[in-house]
Amino acid sequence: MQSLSVYRLHKLLVVVGLLHVRVNAQTSTADRTTETGEAAITDPNEECSPYSYPPVVNQLSAFPSIWEAASILSDDSAAQAKWDSISANIPSNISVKTQPPASNYSSDDPDCWWTYSLCTEPKLSGLPVDISAAPEPSTLGYGFDDGPNCSHNAFYDFLLSQNQKATFYYIGSNVADWPLEAQRALADGHEICAHTWSHPYMTTFSSEAAFAELWYSMQMIKLAVGVTPTCWRPPYGDVDDRIRSIANALGLQTIMWGYDSEDADINGQSITDQTVVTNYNNFITTASNGTFNFTGAIILTHELNNFTMSEAVQFYSQLKSSFQHIVPVGVSLNKTQPYVETNYSLPTFEQCKCPLRSRFEELEF
Ligand SMILES: *[C@@H]1O[C@H](CO)[C@@H](O)[C@H](O)[C@H]1NC(C)=O
Ligand SMILES: *[C@@H]1O[C@H](CO)[C@@H](O)[C@H](O)[C@H]1NC(C)=O
Ligand SMILES: *[C@@H]1O[C@H](CO)[C@@H](O)[C@H](O)[C@H]1NC(C)=O
Ligand SMILES: *[C@@H]1O[C@H](CO)[C@@H](O)[C@H](O)[C@H]1NC(C)=O
Ligand SMILES: *[C@@H]1O[C@H](CO)[C@@H](O)[C@H](O)[C@H]1NC(C)=O
Ligand SMILES: *[C@@H]1O[C@H](CO)[C@@H](O)[C@H](O)[C@H]1NC(C)=O
Ligand SMILES: *[C@@H]1O[C@H](CO)[C@@H](O)[C@H](O)[C@H]1NC(C)=O
Ligand SMILES: *[C@@H]1O[C@H](CO)[C@@H](O)[C@H](O)[C@H]1NC(C)=O
Ligand SMILES: [Zn+2]
Repeated sequence: MQSLSVYRLHKLLVVVGLLHVRVNAQTSTADRTTETGEAAITDPNEECSPYSYPPVVNQLSAFPSIWEAASILSDDSAAQAKWDSISANIPSNISVKTQPPASNYSSDDPDCWWTYSLCTEPKLSGLPVDISAAPEPSTLGYGFDDGPNCSHNAFYDFLLSQNQKATFYYIGSNVADWPLEAQRALADGHEICAHTWSHPYMTTFSSEAAFAELWYSMQMIKLAVGVTPTCWRPPYGDVDDRIRSIANALGLQTIMWGYDSEDADINGQSITDQTVVTNYNNFITTASNGTFNFTGAIILTHELNNFTMSEAVQFYSQLKSSFQHIVPVGVSLNKTQPYVETNYSLPTFEQCKCPLRSRFEELEF
């Protein structure tokens, strides 16, 4: 297959650092129609100039408006049928929340509302516990929220150069805008999870609207990339047992985190660039002192902008020195079939060729 060999060549060139072609946005001959063409662009401005990818653009009328709260489209019989098939089992005695939490919400936290109490063990029976740490010892479940970012090639090239795989939590509206960037995650061997259609506080949405946020993000990833995710991360971590039960009915495992870099929360006051550096450093110190010797960790980090991706690059080698294994969350769970489609697999944890350098290895050289 010609496209495959071109793709391999592209990867090779990136790895050996020869692909330093600066593309001028005006006179560019960049191929904006294929994953490999888009992945070869190195000018961030050009990467972020819009393009039209017909397989997605031609279907946009079957989706909610990009970056607007999702609801089931009136002529979408498949979505309606799915909702009708699960809605009877979604709890109706768990109230829609306000943000921030209302003062009369019971301090017993009856709904296992993460935003209120960091609860990750559902109180409603039949729901699995959220994943907030990689279960394997000295293992980092590596991942990034809010992509695909239009100018992520430098970051993805870096991961490729390290042979490092990660989990990407993609926002459906971003996938609709940047479908070739979304395809790159799969082509590079990363894991893709859903991160809703428009990134709302999910507990503030009606059950039907929350369903639509998940459903259309899954359908958009399927349309743009060809696979349907089986994991999701709630924006802001805002999940309770009502939202968990909707995700669970859609086959989505809820992935949280135990540590937060706060890289997406810079406000120039209480949270600055330095806060993020401190958070990374504290996390690395914690990993180095044996805290994760028996159970690994997940830290919240983002593919949001140049700063968040640059920090990820900056701290990668220290993370690699302080964890024995850095793998996508699904790999840490031995989840070899990460998508609904059965013809795509991830390695098991044991098989994973993700960097497996022992922290003591460097002493031998
Ligand atoms: C809601 O109802 C279910 C049974 O339908 C019950 O198990 C659960 O405890 C109730 N939850 C709350 C928060 O009252
Ligand atoms: C909290 O107050 C709001 C508004 O006054 C009310 O609608 C809601 O039912 C109350 N919730 C609880 C758990 O008492
Ligand atoms: C490791 O470091 C963290 C953060 O400084 C600290 O909370 C924890 O108690 C330390 N654990 C051990 C085993 O030293
Ligand atoms: C963690 O494991 C390392 C390597 O086996 C060991 O040196 C260290 O003492 C352990 N620390 C804790 C807190 O268990
Ligand atoms: C991606 O990152 C660039 C550079 O930081 C930023 O300007 C842009 O807004 C981001 N775009 C998306 C879609 O996240
Ligand atoms: C951040 O932006 C600079 C300047 O455009 C670019 O050289 C660098 O590759 C970007 N870094 C990442 C990780 O995207
Ligand atoms: C993953 O598989 C390995 C090898 O079979 C096993 O040792 C490990 O306990 C499994 N981990 C999880 C989280 O299931
Ligand atoms: C999986 O099968 C679908 C068609 O059913 C095909 O379009 C896709 O390319 C296949 N993916 C892989 C990784 O083989
Ligand atoms: Zn997010």
